[in-house]
Amino acid sequence: MIRSRIAGIGKYLPEQVVTNNDLLQYMDTSDEWIQERTGIKERRFAHRTKETTTTMGVEAARMAIERAGITAQDIDFIIFATLSPDYYFPGCGVLLQRAMQMKEIGALDIRNQCSGFVYALSVADQFIRTGTYKNILVVGSEKHSFGLDFSTRGRNVSVIFGDGAGAVVLQPSTNENTGILSTHLHSDGESAEILAMYNPGTHANHWKEERYADFDEAPIGQMFMSQQMIDKAQLFPYMDGPAVFKKAVVKFPEVIMEALSNNGLSPADLHLLIPHQANLRIAQFVQQKLGLRDDQVYNNIQHYGNTTAASVPIALCEAWEKGLIKEQQLVCLAAFGSGFTWASALLRW
Ligand code: ACO
Repeated sequence: MIRSRIAGIGKYLPEQVVTNNDLLQYMDTSDEWIQERTGIKERRFAHRTKETTTTMGVEAARMAIERAGITAQDIDFIIFATLSPDYYFPGCGVLLQRAMQMKEIGALDIRNQCSGFVYALSVADQFIRTGTYKNILVVGSEKHSFGLDFSTRGRNVSVIFGDGAGAVVLQPSTNENTGILSTHLHSDGESAEILAMYNPGTHANHWKEERYADFDEAPIGQMFMSQQMIDKAQLFPYMDGPAVFKKAVVKFPEVIMEALSNNGLSPADLHLLIPHQANLRIAQFVQQKLGLRDDQVYNNIQHYGNTTAASVPIALCEAWEKGLIKEQQLVCLAAFGSGFTWASALLRW
């Protein structure tokens, strides 16, 4: 049986460190409030004009490719997960392909927000298992700082997020006992609007509510974006924090247990859990529910904030660089986020 393994891993974090106290210049908040509710002390912000989601993804990809001992020319498929793309379309995958001067390979963008990287890894895993591709580049990258409401109005969301990128190169494993053992993907669209960025989009709800009694009178071609959306801050993400918390603390442990049970394993067998860095309180709740020790769970949200699709590969890369993951050790990646979508991947390193 062919399994896929992570042959190289990389990360990129922008230079600019933004502490909780730095945010005081924009909004009414406090270091104490942010740390108590989220665990976050500081985050990184990309350079406003010189760095994009793609350029950060490229940096992480370069590191992953070099560590895999191959070149960009050897990559035969790209999967790029992000919710903050350079353009509405085309996706970041093709921009990375161009920037890295890769061959005319397939490039797929994944829009699964916080679980985007685990979803992307699962798709890559299927292509490796079927023998379709040999070197797949999987990237998660976000430039949140560009599109958040940094006024007091948006503080419940904007204090949580940071910028960065992570990447892995997936290859067929030469040893069938190592690599990705299984992946598990889920969704429940019932609460899609609880954690979402509605505009710009084709739903047209804004126009229904604001402008026209008879919606069919709305002007064709002018409905995508409006001055009212800007004035009413409707171009920023919306989050019902407590509702997200409640669902996350149920689905995270569930999908981790699913991965373990599927492979005849239990939480005690786990060397390291790398949860999506949503919020330290959520990770602590999950740890407690699964009965895991502190050394079995890796968290770095304290320094980078929530980097959505980039958080799992950044944390995995950092843990590996610190020597916390060695050959044959069991690692679980798990994520939960907007959609809602949630996912896990169990790996024997
Ligand atoms: N600084 C100071 N006060 C704030 C801030 C802030 N940044 N943000 C909100 N507040 C205030 C509110 O105005 C409110 O004040 P009020 O009581 O006077 O009206 C009070 O704090 C409580 O507001 P809530 O929104 O109810 O805050 P809550 O206690 O729920 O904490 C939080 C917010 C941290 C987001 C919490 O709901 C949470 O942990 N939710 C989980 C969601 C999450 O972590 N999402 C991460 C991204 S999604 C993902 O990755 C899955």
